Amino acid sequence: MVPQSSERRSGESMSNAPGGRVSWPQPQNRKVKVARFSTAVQLIRTGNLRIELHNRRRGAQRHLYRRPLPERGNWSVRRINSLHTALPHLQNYLEIGLAKGRTFEHVTLPNRVGVDPNPQFNVDSLPARTSVFVATSDEFFASVSDTFDVVFLDGLHTYQQTYRDLLAALGVTPTGVILVDDVVPSDEASALPDEAVSLATRRRLGLPGKKWHGDVFRMVMCLVDHHPELAFRTIVGSGNEQLLVWQEEPGNDSVPVDTDVLDQYAAFSFDDVFGGGVPASFLPTHESVALTDAVKILSRR
Ligand SMILES: C[S@@+](CC[C@H](N)C(=O)[O-])C[C@H]1O[C@@H](n2cnc3c(N)ncnc32)[C@H](O)[C@@H]1O
Repeated sequence: MVPQSSERRSGESMSNAPGGRVSWPQPQNRKVKVARFSTAVQLIRTGNLRIELHNRRRGAQRHLYRRPLPERGNWSVRRINSLHTALPHLQNYLEIGLAKGRTFEHVTLPNRVGVDPNPQFNVDSLPARTSVFVATSDEFFASVSDTFDVVFLDGLHTYQQTYRDLLAALGVTPTGVILVDDVVPSDEASALPDEAVSLATRRRLGLPGKKWHGDVFRMVMCLVDHHPELAFRTIVGSGNEQLLVWQEEPGNDSVPVDTDVLDQYAAFSFDDVFGGGVPASFLPTHESVALTDAVKILSRR
């Protein structure tokens, strides 16, 4: 019998193997511990340990990290922070649609503004130089007077709302860049604009996963047809497809199309648009190339 040791830690179990030989911990256990140790060091260094411990408590209301940990972020974080790394003078970030703040908290631009009618974290205890408006994007844009360098549009995923958000965002991002989420749905069900209907349809059709993107792709079609004053790229091949948009010439106002023109795009189905893959008119571009293109333009402004 192996004696209980006060030095033994979880994950390091030593048990009697058949034949009386001790079975030693597997090497990957050590790797996990090294990774955990470096994560803990990083959390302490960035002043985030207290937040991490709080957020792990069952039933605790989530708090945002005090300082960004970009390596914990997703493809949105990677793309936004790549722009900031290439253009360190960028200061002001706006995110429409925050949910748990998992992108927002890892963005490295120093001044961050977020908007969501239903944020899923504590908005009374925010990191420095960060503000959150508990409001819809329409309400926010009706009253904002600030300007931004980078905007991430990830709010209501209907194409009419995203189009409205984009036009309003362009007005407060005269020399910057806008990233729009979920512009390429994965299938017909994920392209349905209502999330609940989309997920119910997935279940009914037996489609795997819980993917939902909405019909934001119809907004891209409208940009292709009616907004030559805008430059854009659809980032493909490295995580969620997103649209990177900027003004060809700063100061060229974008005039919204009439509602009846916008409504016509509702007639296009997922198969009409993506039956042959991402259409060339969407300018599908690898992430690094799309970001380089944007940086080239922004660095001259
Ligand atoms: C996909 S989640 C955002 C995820 C977040 N950007 C991230 O990267 O972790 C969409 C969010 O949009 C918010 N939302 C819904 N309607 C909105 C509106 N009209 N204006 C702003 N946000 C909205 C929802 O409350 C939800 O939290």
